[in-house]
Amino acid sequence: MSFKKNLSYKAFSKSKFKSIKHSTYFEVYDELFSKYRNKKITFVEIGILGGGSLFMWRNFFGTKARIIGIDLNPSAKKWAKYGFEIFIGDQSDINFWKKFKKKVGKIDIILDDGGHRYIDQITSIECILDNVKHNGLIVVEDTHTSYMDGFGDKKYSLINYIKDNIDKINHKSHKLKNRISKENIWSIKVYESIVAIFVKSKEKQTKSSPITNNGIDDNAKDFRVEKIKNDKSFRKILDKIKNYFK
Ligand SMILES: C[S@@+](CC[C@H](N)C(=O)[O-])C[C@H]1O[C@@H](n2cnc3c(N)ncnc32)[C@H](O)[C@@H]1O
Repeated sequence: MSFKKNLSYKAFSKSKFKSIKHSTYFEVYDELFSKYRNKKITFVEIGILGGGSLFMWRNFFGTKARIIGIDLNPSAKKWAKYGFEIFIGDQSDINFWKKFKKKVGKIDIILDDGGHRYIDQITSIECILDNVKHNGLIVVEDTHTSYMDGFGDKKYSLINYIKDNIDKINHKSHKLKNRISKENIWSIKVYESIVAIFVKSKEKQTKSSPITNNGIDDNAKDFRVEKIKNDKSFRKILDKIKNYFK
């Protein structure tokens, strides 16, 4: 499907002021954000530059939405006269987030299109996570910077942080003794240049434990382990798998 058919693209092209987005983003926006349209939500965008994306989000979400913009550049304050809430501050500053959360309260969605350094992206997620509502979203754009020079030490890139959080999600399993869970993160979805973190409050998440439906047990044998033999064909498959990691 052409991105021009996406509702978010229509909202983007209708915006009076300049915004720059990637053509692949509109399909993702529609997928992630459509269910929030015309609802009384709080939406935050980090990085507002020429103001165009604020108007895009107003067009997309409708007049009931509270649209908040954050930017380091003090001149962004001018967008407040159009009905947006504007906060001037540094997304890599923990104290900025403390004040922001006190003033704004709980939010539904936060979209990070700010500085794109790992310190910006990771600090923002760590600071805002406990302030995102149950079933809310944290979305980070331009995550290709994790593979580029000039955005920080690649060992501590956003994508490496995300990989670590995938491990943390899986370590919620009762099967794993060493629990290192990040409790509010329910799931993570990775797109080209975008990562979406789905938030669910800890109290509302089901705890992992084995359950049975109490159906008739015909004592079927579990073949899983027996099937793996160390023969030639097995080693061939194993070599193929090793190649995936290259
Ligand atoms: C890519 S532009 C935003 C584009 C805008 N969202 C759009 O769609 O047109 C990035 C913006 O992030 C702001 N920015 C850069 N570093 C920041 C930081 N550490 N904290 C807050 N804002 C920052 C810049 O001033 C700039 O306006």
